[in-house]
Amino acid sequence: MSKWLVVFSLILSVVMGLTIWDAYRQEFPGYQKAYFNMVELNSQTTSQQEWARNQRVELKQQNIGELRRLDRCQTCHLAVENPGFTNAPEPLRTHPSLLDSHPPEKFGCAVCHGGNERGTTTSIAHGETEGQNKRLLKDEYIQATCYACHTEKTLPPQATGAVIQGKIILNVNMCLRCHQINGEGGNEGPDLSEVGSRRDWMWTYAHFINPQAMNLVSTMPRFQLSRDDIKHLTIFLLTLQNNRDKVTDNRFIAHKSADPNWRWPEKQAGGQTNAMKGANLVPTIEYEGKELFTGAGCKTCHTIGQSGGEVGPALSYIARKYDRDTFVRLLRNPADVFPQGLMPQLNLNEKQVQAVADYLSTLK
Ligand code: HEC
Ligand code: HEC
Ligand code: HEC
Ligand code: HEC
Ligand code: HEC
Repeated sequence: MSKWLVVFSLILSVVMGLTIWDAYRQEFPGYQKAYFNMVELNSQTTSQQEWARNQRVELKQQNIGELRRLDRCQTCHLAVENPGFTNAPEPLRTHPSLLDSHPPEKFGCAVCHGGNERGTTTSIAHGETEGQNKRLLKDEYIQATCYACHTEKTLPPQATGAVIQGKIILNVNMCLRCHQINGEGGNEGPDLSEVGSRRDWMWTYAHFINPQAMNLVSTMPRFQLSRDDIKHLTIFLLTLQNNRDKVTDNRFIAHKSADPNWRWPEKQAGGQTNAMKGANLVPTIEYEGKELFTGAGCKTCHTIGQSGGEVGPALSYIARKYDRDTFVRLLRNPADVFPQGLMPQLNLNEKQVQAVADYLSTLK
């Protein structure tokens, strides 16, 4: 009996080892080689050329002991601090500001972006695999993480709008009739003081649309909230974290008052660009629509066949109802198809939109 167990676990670890090795082989070495080649092709000095020639393909990780983090995002995102890569395709593009004050070797990336910081494939690192609760936080959702080290005094107004709005909505709807936050409020529902460490954004968002779809016996009422209200409430709740997730080390806490003229980083143009020499060497990532349907969180709210959530309509035969163009419009911006609806903006990139639209088109 125990002998078979040993044999079995040996086989299992070999299989898993091979799977992990396979994933390594497919992805990050390709980005690294492309980066070193591009530096060489675009370099102005011989020392830059030499630097590029001497680089080895390897896992890049920041071990940030003070934050209990091991951050590997730069294994693929190699050019964040290289000012010459503003026109390169992702994952090799220069970062839009903020890294001078939050240097990657001290902060890593996931403190601000979320994601699965140990992941070494795109889908795992970005939290886009089945059962993931570590999705990248995109667009306004990123504001939630700023509060780990900042307060409204040290954050510029452009970085606080969503959270402040969320607090107002919480007060207007008197959520503290039933919930406590930091010792204040009622007891009918769970204490929300640490809810941001317990629930991810998608669960929280979906629960506002329909509490009973997430928890059959819930007595929480459905509120008359708009898509933006739900988003802002969700972002505010994400800032409420337990002591393990909060940043407590003084070296990481911001103290200086904010510059009121600071601007939120411009969203970069999406998609591939061939403006740089060698940009065509960067491998393009292929998304699989069916996997992404689960990984991007659609399944939290929608059923296909027997499995999935019941927050939104079932989609088993959705291609009988809409054409592919409508799917694309919906996935780019749900408000375009359902102006008064509640489906969230998932901020998928264009390649992901196309892949999911392909998959939905097969559901006849
Ligand atoms: C295995 C390589 C890899 C790793 C590791 C990785 N990324 Fe990415 N990242 C990519 C690729 C490839 C893209 C471009 C996606 C595309 O073109 O569809 C990207 C794009 C992004 C974007 C732009 C948003 C988007 O959807 O296009 C953000 C933000 C990002 N990554 C953050 C992170 C963070 C934070 C981490 C660590 C938790 C991380 N990445 C780890 C490969 C990686
Ligand atoms: C201090 C917080 C912070 C840190 C640390 C940080 N970022 Fe960002 N990053 C941002 C903000 C804010 C944006 C603007 C994103 C937006 O509005 O969608 C951004 C934008 C990006 C984008 C472009 C996304 C897009 O849609 O245009 C990528 C890719 C990215 N960051 C990757 C990284 C990686 C990789 C690291 C680690 C080296 C990192 N970031 C570290 C805050 C941060
Ligand atoms: C892990 C902690 C941490 C996180 C997370 C963090 N910051 Fe900071 N931030 C700092 C520290 C430390 C400073 C240094 C200034 C100081 O000591 O007051 C700083 C400085 C700044 C500054 C002033 C310098 C500059 O670059 O203009 C801005 C603006 C800023 N942060 C914005 C943000 C935003 C926006 C986010 C969320 C996307 C964010 N920070 C997330 C710790 C953090
Ligand atoms: C009439 C009482 C009541 C009111 C008012 C109410 N809730 Fe709830 N809430 C509950 C109950 C009961 C639960 C537990 C069952 C469930 O998960 O739905 C709950 C659960 C939650 C959860 C999930 C917590 C967790 O960790 O599982 C969140 C988040 C939440 N409520 C937020 C809010 C917000 C924000 C408001 C105001 C818009 C609000 N609630 C108003 C009763 C209420
Ligand atoms: C947080 C819950 C939620 C998530 C996540 C979500 N949706 Fe939705 N979806 C809804 C709701 C609610 C509706 C109904 C329209 C509205 O209120 O906006 C809807 C409507 C739809 C419709 C139209 C259905 C019909 O019968 O008219 C499609 C198609 C759809 N969603 C696809 C997706 C896909 C694909 C994803 C993932 C990329 C996704 N949804 C993620 C909640 C969600």
